[in-house]
Amino acid sequence: MSDSISIVEVGPRDGLQNEATCLSTTDKIQFIEALAQAGCKRIEVGSFVSPKWVPQMANSDAVLTQLNRQSDVTYSALTPNIHGVEQAIACGADEIAIFGAASEAFTQKNINCTIAQSIERFIPVITYAQAHSIPVRGYVSTVMGCPYSGEVPLRDVVNIAKQLYELGCYEISLGDTIGVGSPTQTQALISAVSTEVPINKLAVHFHNTYGQALANVLTAINAGVRIVDTSAAGLGGCPYAHGASGNLATEDLVYMLNGMGMHSGIDLPALIAASKPILHTLKIPPASAVNIAMR
Ligand code: HMG
Ligand code: MG
Repeated sequence: MSDSISIVEVGPRDGLQNEATCLSTTDKIQFIEALAQAGCKRIEVGSFVSPKWVPQMANSDAVLTQLNRQSDVTYSALTPNIHGVEQAIACGADEIAIFGAASEAFTQKNINCTIAQSIERFIPVITYAQAHSIPVRGYVSTVMGCPYSGEVPLRDVVNIAKQLYELGCYEISLGDTIGVGSPTQTQALISAVSTEVPINKLAVHFHNTYGQALANVLTAINAGVRIVDTSAAGLGGCPYAHGASGNLATEDLVYMLNGMGMHSGIDLPALIAASKPILHTLKIPPASAVNIAMR
């Protein structure tokens, strides 16, 4: 099994979508370029969603078109519908992501439709992206619990993951949106989903609300997962999952991987420096033990 972990840095999107302050295009670009400098090879830079729903992402078009790109970095964006994917590709997104959920209640609150309607809506998005040779990632939210309906049956997670994979998503990211899962649950999750989606196509996306994300990611890595979503300085949350904190901090994962002799390609001091101006602008401390310890 490979000792390399592919980190998907979601700080500029997941990290900033829930902040009360809407960051300027310049601030976001500076952050993204510093992340690329630090060695991040996959960066989710924004969302092409309704600005009425998530105003923090309204400048994603300017961010994507104006940033200085590194040729070996993939710059991706979230797209909930055909309007979103058209905009994202016109702005030069290298990859797009559709986002569904295993819970009906969360799907309704987050994208204003049922799970069945979300699948119908994703089909033309995938078709459009594929026609433009743009890879599509599929998110499944609420894989370990829903902020509105509580427990989420594992079979519902497997069902939606399988459907998104069969529709043409090349990778499925499993989101513990509200950070409630445990390592035992993670083990069960990966065993169940990997019966339908090959394990090398699975990513984990764990929020750290209850401090379990690093333990859960380690469990997923031990089960064979090699793609992990994290957010610099542990920034983030979902505007439609109140109380949920940021993703696992990229720093905390990189530090653990370094200690385990595993490779991420990310330089820790440069990563810590990348989020410093954002934290300063937002007037918030880092949600990362490693970031605090190394400052
Ligand atoms: P709706 O209100 O049902 O959609 O929202 P609509 O088609 O009726 O459109 C309403 C208005 O939005 C219209 O404008 C559209 O033009 C506009 P109006 O005519 O009223 O002026 N609109 C758009 N504008 C820009 N870009 C678009 C777009 N689409 C419509 N793409 C919709 C449905 C999906 C649009 C809405 O619910 C939405 O934008 N939701 C996004 C919510 C979101 O971004 N949540 C956070 C990301 S998911 C997440 O964080 C979880 C994840 O991290 C994994 C995990 O942690 O679990 C991925
Ligand atoms: Mg998330």
